This record gives sequence, structure tokens and C-alpha cells, in this order.
Amino acid sequence: MDNQELINLALKAAEKAYAPYSKFFVGAAVLFEDESITTGCNVENASYGLCLCAERNAISTAIAQGIEPKIKKIAIASTNTDKCYPCGACRQWIYEFAKDAVIVLQDDDKTIEYSISELLPHSFDGDLLK
Ligand code: THU
Repeated sequence: MDNQELINLALKAAEKAYAPYSKFFVGAAVLFEDESITTGCNVENASYGLCLCAERNAISTAIAQGIEPKIKKIAIASTNTDKCYPCGACRQWIYEFAKDAVIVLQDDDKTIEYSISELLPHSFDGDLLK
């Protein structure tokens, strides 16, 4: 699965977004170490603070399906815009499941990659709680 294919899955998921308030449609596609793939879209709520991001939806789906949550790559895409960066909360979620995850974004007619440590330096690490 190359980066553009993973972005295409994210865009497909974005078409299912429930975003009547922001009208900002986001999709995420996650590739795990065991080659499983899950997708998710954002799901909004009239109580705005309860909105669920696409990335957390896709990762939660994997957990619910019993997939070992070791993220290799996560593609994030919006049908509204290129370069849909993950929000801060989602960066922390991605970090929980891979300290070396690759984040793939659409950039015009190509894709770009970031490491999670680039997007979330000095992360809060669960090891601190042990
Ligand atoms: N959104 C995501 O799904 N992922 C992000 O990382 C950024 C924001 C959604 C949440 C909300 O439904 C809409 O985009 C506008 O903020």
C-alpha cells in the first residue's frame, strides 16, 4: 500500500463524515504493523466539544476489532483542503500507539510524510506513569 493509496482511502472515508456544523470533512486511514488497515471519519455533535476526529475514530475502530494497535502509517485527508494536519489531541493519540509512526498528508499532486516526533516533540509519554 503506497502513500497515495492510503490517502485515497482516507479521502473515501471523509465522504462519510458527519460534519453538519463545520462542513469540514476529514478522513483517516491507518496502516498497522500487521498490515491491517482501518479508516474513520469525523463525527460531530450539536454540543461542539463532543466532536470526534477522524484519526481517533479510525484508531478506535482498530482497537474494537482486536487489531494490535501498532501504527505504521496514518494518512489524513480532507475533501475541503490539502495538507490537513492532525490536531493536537490526535497527535497525542497517534503517539500512544507508535513512537515512530509516519503521518502522510496530501500536498497538491504528491504526498508528504512527517514523523510523529516532528509533529509532537517532547510528547507526554505513558512511561512517565509507570
Ligand atoms: N478534525 C478531524 O477530524 N481531525 C483533525 O485532526 C482536525 C479536525 C475535524 C473535527 C471537526 O469535526 C472538524 O474537523 C473541524 O474542526
